[in-house]
Amino acid sequence: MANLFRGTTRNIGPRGPFFFVPATKLPLRFADFVGLLLFAVYLCVNGFDNSVRRPCGFLLMRILLLADIHANWAALNAITEPFDVCLVLGDLVDYGLEPSPCIEWVRQKATHAVRGNHDHGVAQNVRVQGRGGFKYLTGVTRPITQERITAADRRFLGNLPITKRANLENSRFLMVHATPRDPMDEYTIADVDFWSRRLQDIDANVICVGHTHHPYVLEVGDKLVINPGSVGQPRDGDPRASYALIENQRVELKRIEYPVEETVKTVWESNLPEPAKAMLAEVFRTGGIAKPDSSKVRSEAPSTMTMQQ
Ligand SMILES: [Fe+2]
Repeated sequence: MANLFRGTTRNIGPRGPFFFVPATKLPLRFADFVGLLLFAVYLCVNGFDNSVRRPCGFLLMRILLLADIHANWAALNAITEPFDVCLVLGDLVDYGLEPSPCIEWVRQKATHAVRGNHDHGVAQNVRVQGRGGFKYLTGVTRPITQERITAADRRFLGNLPITKRANLENSRFLMVHATPRDPMDEYTIADVDFWSRRLQDIDANVICVGHTHHPYVLEVGDKLVINPGSVGQPRDGDPRASYALIENQRVELKRIEYPVEETVKTVWESNLPEPAKAMLAEVFRTGGIAKPDSSKVRSEAPSTMTMQQ
């Protein structure tokens, strides 16, 4: 744009002054130039895709928070929010049977991503045996996950950091799958006292976590804990894909319907044991409401909250 102002100005009759674009020698009327400038500003603010928004993200930064995708491609594919920054809080794989496109999506689009316990287990080829519940489902879906990912996918999962820090929107973000004390496994609840103890020595304003598959936003002193819930396997009784959006310092927990039966179809067409197929179909269709883990977490936080700096 600076080059335009270095172009020659000529007054040629009643149409007024022209700027010559040096590279092309094409005349550009001043009014046209102003129009183009206004159009460029409009695109930056209301951009039609991320490539337009990103250079001017400081004008209207949208941070998309995703967690616990769990190889549910139909659910991930349904989230079409424009964003400037995407944070993925782990557990890309297991349970769902389409791990590869989910890993590729994260590889291509995530600005930052951390490793979840399921990513770690798949990357390290950990075998799981469970008689019931989600542990059973992990045990039976993991071999299929291993079959359906590439060596590069496995390396990608294994190379994801355990924690990640970033400065965004004038806030210090800490990303971790579970809790700062036990980044991959500690199961937490949306409880101020619990999080006050966990965050005592944590130098961050915004702590982004996943793992519980229950969305919440919790104000803990001068810090904010955000759990966007699960994209691919919600367990709060709402089967819609769950995620969070931070825009202009405001956090919003969001849900979106996706073609659940597409996901269920991949389960029925697999060689999983019949009980596992039935359990997974129920979890996808109901939002996991019947599973015992659901009673461990309260989810009473408001759906929107303003970030503190
Ligand atoms: Fe998970």
